[in-house]
Amino acid sequence: MAEQFVGLKLSSAKAETRTIKPCPTLEGEIIIPGDKSISHRAVILNNLTRDGARIDNFAPGRDCLATVRCLKALGVKIDRMGSSDSHTLLVSGTGEDGLKEASNVLNAENSATTMRLLGGLLASQPFLSVITGDASLRNRPMDRLIEPLRLMGADIWGRGRDSFAPLVIKGGKLRGIDFTLPVPSAQIKSAILLAGLFASSNTVLYQKIPSRDHTERMLKWMGASLESRENSISLLPLSNPLVPVNLRVPGDISSAAYFLVAGAIHPNARLVIKDCGINPTRTGIIDILLAMGARLKIYNERLEAGEPLADIVVESSELTGTEVGGDTIPRLIDEIPVLAVAGCVAKGKTMIRDAGELRVKESDRIATVVSELSRLGAKIEPLPDGMVIYGGKPLTGTEVDSHFDHRLAMSLAVAGLVAKEETAVKHAQVAQVSYPTFWQDLQQALSNEF
Ligand code: S3P
Repeated sequence: MAEQFVGLKLSSAKAETRTIKPCPTLEGEIIIPGDKSISHRAVILNNLTRDGARIDNFAPGRDCLATVRCLKALGVKIDRMGSSDSHTLLVSGTGEDGLKEASNVLNAENSATTMRLLGGLLASQPFLSVITGDASLRNRPMDRLIEPLRLMGADIWGRGRDSFAPLVIKGGKLRGIDFTLPVPSAQIKSAILLAGLFASSNTVLYQKIPSRDHTERMLKWMGASLESRENSISLLPLSNPLVPVNLRVPGDISSAAYFLVAGAIHPNARLVIKDCGINPTRTGIIDILLAMGARLKIYNERLEAGEPLADIVVESSELTGTEVGGDTIPRLIDEIPVLAVAGCVAKGKTMIRDAGELRVKESDRIATVVSELSRLGAKIEPLPDGMVIYGGKPLTGTEVDSHFDHRLAMSLAVAGLVAKEETAVKHAQVAQVSYPTFWQDLQQALSNEF
């Protein structure tokens, strides 16, 4: 039997520690779970159609399940096709005006995308909604959602002088707005677009730096009158029902990123990532790994419901440090923790700037990435809006903590692959938020022999 390179220790029912041992080879074909951002949008938007749709390869993590549970609480019929672990959903469309007031508080759990996208939609619905989340989500900024929705005429309030969840939303008639997005946030942009579908006049959004455009692509695919240019988006209120879209969700490039970096930094690796989304608003990680010298190739490019996808092959590489900032940041914002791991292994300095948004993610990712990679021996320093990493210092395994942040848990596992001795990642179960089979997929790649 192949030696186990990823172990599991249960310190209590909830606190799971995963141990990672350095391994001789890293090889195999990995099927990444469905894209989280596209899955949220596919289920929310198909619900607004009159006929509903079938969604294959729906993201299996807790975040998208939170969206499904909230929609069910609002009266939407969503069924899993086949077994309870199937990733095919059948969404029955409730149409433009079929949502019903929930009988209880909606729970977005750890998912800001659920809270913000549904916040926009619920602001337009003629009933009361209260939406909350876990401790991390209740600490994340919601004023950026409340302010534009209020400009559209919504009655919406939040805890801490309208800064945080829980949110109370008394939905009703909205008007369109001309609005400049103060941060390049796809969640806020999407919330305003969802509200704008039901407004009495047009909505125009200006963005200094573009963010992921899955909402725009899907709305256009569904027949909404939406026009997007590089720095602005115009949306007309719905005049015809949205057309349902049956789709197979592409693999999540944010989940693939752990394996892209692992393959590039491991000395004896070849990984093939199948059917991975390569929407250009999400491929910053590929661009930066290539700029660092990664041996990475993209094959078999195609389109699925307006979203590009491909197969990616990555092999052991000699990386060199680089500078990341400006327009690239929103294109890899969720991949920065694992990019920092690549920076630790690369020759020379890696500088990440313009990424202050990291401070308001599932954890303060500047503080948590710096503290946990330092424990492994990395030379890494925080900046107000990023970090600087002096690469090439050998990493040594020890106990590190995910801080209940899924992306940190998986990034630390990747660091563990190239560290001397064993790395123990505390609270590793949090990977379930976006990638429930991460530890099995990693183990699988480690046990494959050349
Ligand atoms: C997401 C947008 C990003 C990203 C998040 C998913 C989305 O957040 O970090 O994981 O699906 O719209 P922001 O919109 O806050 O930048």
